[in-house]
Amino acid sequence: GSGKFFVGGNWKCNGTKESISKLVSDINSAKLESDVDVIVAPPFVYIDQVKNSLSDRVEIAAQNCWTGKGGAFTGEISAEQIYDLGCSWVVLGHSERRHIIGEDNEFIGKKAAYALSQTLGVIACIGELLEEREAGKTFDVCYQQLKAFADAVPGWDKIVIAYEPVWAIGTGKVATPDQAQEVHVAVRDWLSKNVSAEVASKTRIIYGGSVNGSNCGELAKQEDIDGFLVGGASLKGPEFATIVNSVT
Ligand code: G3H
Repeated sequence: GSGKFFVGGNWKCNGTKESISKLVSDINSAKLESDVDVIVAPPFVYIDQVKNSLSDRVEIAAQNCWTGKGGAFTGEISAEQIYDLGCSWVVLGHSERRHIIGEDNEFIGKKAAYALSQTLGVIACIGELLEEREAGKTFDVCYQQLKAFADAVPGWDKIVIAYEPVWAIGTGKVATPDQAQEVHVAVRDWLSKNVSAEVASKTRIIYGGSVNGSNCGELAKQEDIDGFLVGGASLKGPEFATIVNSVT
């Protein structure tokens, strides 16, 4: 693997002040292996609550941001504001934003470049739909999504790539360790050929899609799986801690 194991909990559009207070206290009291970067991504409206109650051991990500500087963009949240709240990361290109909201590669690339310019780290999500996998287009789709990031950003130091096959997200249908490993290797090869060998070897590639406390161990053993982006299972503090601690 590359770099420090990285586990993100993406809470998506879930929670209330009360449930989030419980989740934060469960995370605060869990034992987390020291050799892991741990990040949680609360809904925007709860970031401040989480920042004020969560242990500094855990960093905070936003789940999205605007493409540029804030201003007259009703309903949007700027990278400056995310930074101001004390976040150090932003999740961009998540499949739910690509396929439900309709964000395209170019728009996502713009967001990534701007977020990096504001010193945020970017969790850059890629991944194929089931029909694309079945048509043998998994690598092509991932390469196009990677290229959009690569074309837009000035460097890869603060980017973590999250490979999340769409058919595995929220379905309970996790990719097998071999399926995930195969794509992670392809992503690393792409970086090596199209960015640099150094970026390929240093960039963390994490897996997302139905990761839970029971399947994380086998996935974590794969050479090119450098961590996880966890949805559903990150809403349970003890299970999230199990996934964090699956570092090998
Ligand atoms: O960002 C997280 C992924 O979309 C995975 O979600 O663990 O609920 O399948 P999930």
